[in-house]
Amino acid sequence: MARKKIIAGNWKMNTTASEAAALAKDVVGAVSGAADVDVVVCPPYVNLSAVAEAIKGSNVKLGAQDVHWEAKGAFTGKVSCDMLKAVGVDYVIIGHSEQRQYFGETNETVNKKTKATLAAGLIPIVCVGETLEERESGKMDGVLESQTKGGFDGISAADAAKCVVAYEPVWAIGTGKTATSQQANEAHIFIRSILSKLYGTDTAGAIRIQYGGSMKPDNAKELLAQSDVDGGLIGGAALKASDFAGIVQPK
Ligand code: 13P
Repeated sequence: MARKKIIAGNWKMNTTASEAAALAKDVVGAVSGAADVDVVVCPPYVNLSAVAEAIKGSNVKLGAQDVHWEAKGAFTGKVSCDMLKAVGVDYVIIGHSEQRQYFGETNETVNKKTKATLAAGLIPIVCVGETLEERESGKMDGVLESQTKGGFDGISAADAAKCVVAYEPVWAIGTGKTATSQQANEAHIFIRSILSKLYGTDTAGAIRIQYGGSMKPDNAKELLAQSDVDGGLIGGAALKASDFAGIVQPK
């Protein structure tokens, strides 16, 4: 099944509002010719409005880096799906390994956030990935299976088909160590096999699986050429429009 590629920039905790607007404008200019790929930028919460304004009328979509599952109330520091929608967000990154590592994200909270995001009509980008220790001790498959099953628990096939999954091996994030295209594809095939068991091959075949971890213009082409690599979730290289564009349209 042909899956449209999706390249998303996760800006993490970088950019002030003016820097974000400038970067977004540069991205819009640099990727304007990319018709056959979905392009998303995910700035920090406080810069979503500035970036929404900067990408208006372009082929670039807006994403958030996290969300809270409750609709409103006494949850200091948190932001709801409706708040994100109101500023023009279409995508939400959920369960990033930095959230899991530093901020207590669990498969259960990933699941709640994914359900809330789908109920609000937003598209979740559900992140999974093993640490180096887990890979080297043979636990990788078990970790990917429990993160995928946990994240999608109780979600219907129709809703699952709308989701994006991001495979981000923790050891490749921000380290300059990219998974080889073969390692990435093997993991993606494995994740799709889990989704197949949950939802059948048609739905699993429709779900896009991005690779994330030191993806750059010079390795993007080979990674994106793999059978089950349907895009990228880009950290460092998303902070420079020309690098990001070089991943969106790799040479
Ligand atoms: P890097 O591209 O900087 O390795 O980050 C990947 C990532 O964590 C994207 O969410």
